[in-house]
Amino acid sequence: MKGVTVVNHPLVQHKLSIMRDKNTSTAGFRRLLREISLLLCYEVTRELELTTMTIETPLIEMEAPTLAGKKLVFASILRAGNGLLEGMLDLVPSARVAHVGLYRDHETLEAVEYYFKAPEDIADRLVIVVDPMLATANSAIAAVERIKDRGATNLRFLCLLAAPEGIERFTKAHPDVPIVTAAIDKRLNDKGYIVPGLGDAGDRMYGTK
Ligand code: PRP
Ligand code: URA
Repeated sequence: MKGVTVVNHPLVQHKLSIMRDKNTSTAGFRRLLREISLLLCYEVTRELELTTMTIETPLIEMEAPTLAGKKLVFASILRAGNGLLEGMLDLVPSARVAHVGLYRDHETLEAVEYYFKAPEDIADRLVIVVDPMLATANSAIAAVERIKDRGATNLRFLCLLAAPEGIERFTKAHPDVPIVTAAIDKRLNDKGYIVPGLGDAGDRMYGTK
């Protein structure tokens, strides 16, 4: 699919299978999501630009590669986005963080916003929007719209599982925003859940059901 990267690394796929298992505990689910987020973060940042800086090794001066440009922004769609966020911050500790509070109305499946806070100079930075699930894509579309309204022009969307329907809707709404995901599942069911999926990511992370 155009604009979509599936991270089919064996470690990612193995950990994802354990997360899908309904018998995996809340603690196990959270730990695996954090571990996978490190591997996904590695993929989604693969094309970051580099510049050089002059350093001295114990032997000689050299021009050493270093990240170019302003610090990244990770934008977490609450709640479940925070499960990806923590591991990503382990890998890129200097990243700035935006929080987009959204929940899906269970009847309409529309995204309802309850919180938004982002760095002021977000327009000059690469923004990686994170949420484990891309189902109808209502949440992802709304979050990206909100961040674009703040002036951001360089964005990526990172998730764990995507439904084909969600990918289609998201790429239509935001064709300029590449998607990175660990898997593309079969379909949505009549309640808007990803099948086979892993259930409700937020509930499984926090043990709320
Ligand atoms: C889940 C998930 C996404 C959204 C995906 O969040 O974390 O944000 O649903 O569904 P969509 O693509 O159809 O919008 P939920 O609304 O359950 O909130 P939570 O993270 O607080 O549990
Ligand atoms: N949100 C989830 O957490 N899981 C799904 O399968 C769909 C939306």
